[in-house]
Amino acid sequence: MTTSYTARLLTPEDLDIWRRLRREGVTRFPNAFLLDQEEVANTPEERDRSVLAAKVLFGVFCEDKAVGIAGLRMGFFNQNKHRAHMGPFYVDPDHWGMAAAQTLLDTLIQTAQDRGATQIELEVDAENPRAIAFYKKVGFQQIGRMPNAMHREGAFHDDLLMVRPIEAT
Ligand SMILES: CC(C)(COP(=O)(O)OP(=O)(O)OC[C@H]1O[C@@H](n2cnc3c(N)ncnc32)[C@H](O)[C@@H]1OP(=O)(O)O)[C@@H](O)C(=O)NCCC(=O)NCCS
Repeated sequence: MTTSYTARLLTPEDLDIWRRLRREGVTRFPNAFLLDQEEVANTPEERDRSVLAAKVLFGVFCEDKAVGIAGLRMGFFNQNKHRAHMGPFYVDPDHWGMAAAQTLLDTLIQTAQDRGATQIELEVDAENPRAIAFYKKVGFQQIGRMPNAMHREGAFHDDLLMVRPIEAT
């Protein structure tokens, strides 16, 4: 039987979902988040509530259980409001290789388009081959590399810059 997933915008009522999955994701995959474990642990609930109220965070669900989270932010100014930026993007490993990541991405792309974007952009750790393969599979192209993008545990790490056009419907 195929597992079915749904994705949707998270609201302040989803605070516990957001905080649980972000904590899990940062613990398991520190290279997939900007914040580190200490910053996550020290983020006040009020701060997360206000980000959730800004309608920039999304979740993917397997039946009623949240199994992944993502962020999507639009360019703020007239000259860049056609650009959507994605991140973070995390799916519980129990749901890898299924439709969870694609379902979450589809919702981000649809939302980006509804909000006026013509392209969606992201940065991914150059040493994250699974995520890079996923992004290429779903239409992202590498357009650059940021040297020393992140500094973690005493070492610098490069990011790949990727972009995917959003087709007009
Ligand atoms: C990135 C992520 C959301 C993708 O979801 P997923 O369910 O794992 O993605 P999929 O299984 O559909 O696609 C991954 C692809 O990478 C391939 N892959 C796995 N390991 C790989 C490796 N070491 N090298 C190259 N390709 C690899 C898989 O075979 C698969 O391709 P296929 O479908 O053609 O076989 C998920 O892996 C995740 O949450 N990772 C941890 C957090 C993270 O890194 N987020 C990205 C931050 S930018």
